[in-house]
Amino acid sequence: MISDFHGRDVLTLDEFTGDEILALLSKAKDLKGMLKKKEPHNYLDGKTIALIFQKPSTRTRISFEAGIAQLGAYPLYLNANDMQLGRGETIDDTGRVLSRYVEAIVIRTFAQEEIELLAEAASIPVINGLSDDYHPCQSLADLLTILEIKNRFSGIKLAYLGDGNNVVHSLLLGSAKVGMDIFVATPEGYEPSSLVVEKAKNIAKNSKVEIMNDPEEAVKDADVVYTDVWTSMGQESEGDIRKKIFVPYQINSKILSYAKSDTVVMHCLPAHRGEEITNEVMDGPNSVVFDQAENRLHTQKALLALLLG
Ligand code: CP
Ligand code: NVA
Repeated sequence: MISDFHGRDVLTLDEFTGDEILALLSKAKDLKGMLKKKEPHNYLDGKTIALIFQKPSTRTRISFEAGIAQLGAYPLYLNANDMQLGRGETIDDTGRVLSRYVEAIVIRTFAQEEIELLAEAASIPVINGLSDDYHPCQSLADLLTILEIKNRFSGIKLAYLGDGNNVVHSLLLGSAKVGMDIFVATPEGYEPSSLVVEKAKNIAKNSKVEIMNDPEEAVKDADVVYTDVWTSMGQESEGDIRKKIFVPYQINSKILSYAKSDTVVMHCLPAHRGEEITNEVMDGPNSVVFDQAENRLHTQKALLALLLG
């Protein structure tokens, strides 16, 4: 069955079935090939896409801006503080107004609820560019990177070490949907949301979703070892305490020796080198972090082309 992506919102990654995610990754591969061959693919000619940012960004902002331009559309970057949003206009009213001007909205903010309210009010697709709870665009790039290297998801074990945060929430859903095993090790009290874990377990039919506190157990025989910052945007006041608690979850050569020898190391970036990942590992032969960052561009272009094409 051919899925109809047209007009849909992307808020967590739970919107898509496993087959839809595979279709999206296949589209991303096509677009990646076209870009490399310099073949025009201005599928969104004449459209405008608003990008609202309430938190800093390097990859998300720039890959969306560049990707939108490559698709022939206009990326309208909006710092939320320069909008009336910053002076109390509601997110609903903002969504209703923007729907009269542009064809889609990408938003990076704090509360997931804000994104959901925006999606409800807007008559155009709303894409979560990261909230405190989810980062669906990141997971799509992660999945493409894994597929390119390992050629399959079934029987692949991903180990995530660190904080049970936005990145791992979407990754749990995405892994379960494509049938990849995911083992998450966090310090006690920093586990991913039990709601998300239960959802992922219900989705996973022939794959594993395991949450634990022992990093070595998680990494044992892993095909992919993944980490993210210990202190996410908005949690800066907890930074000092987190730096101590998370030490056993650092990705270094010792922990990596428990994984398969051809394991790939992933990080959504930005990295705090020397904290969650050592320089040696990040710059080492197993690291694919920059290919992963590149794939943000291709997967987001696929997403936009399918939602708006
Ligand atoms: N991975 C990611 O979303 O990076 P930015 O915060 O730079 O957008
Ligand atoms: N968990 C991190 C991801 C940054 C891309 C954060 O929210 O800051």
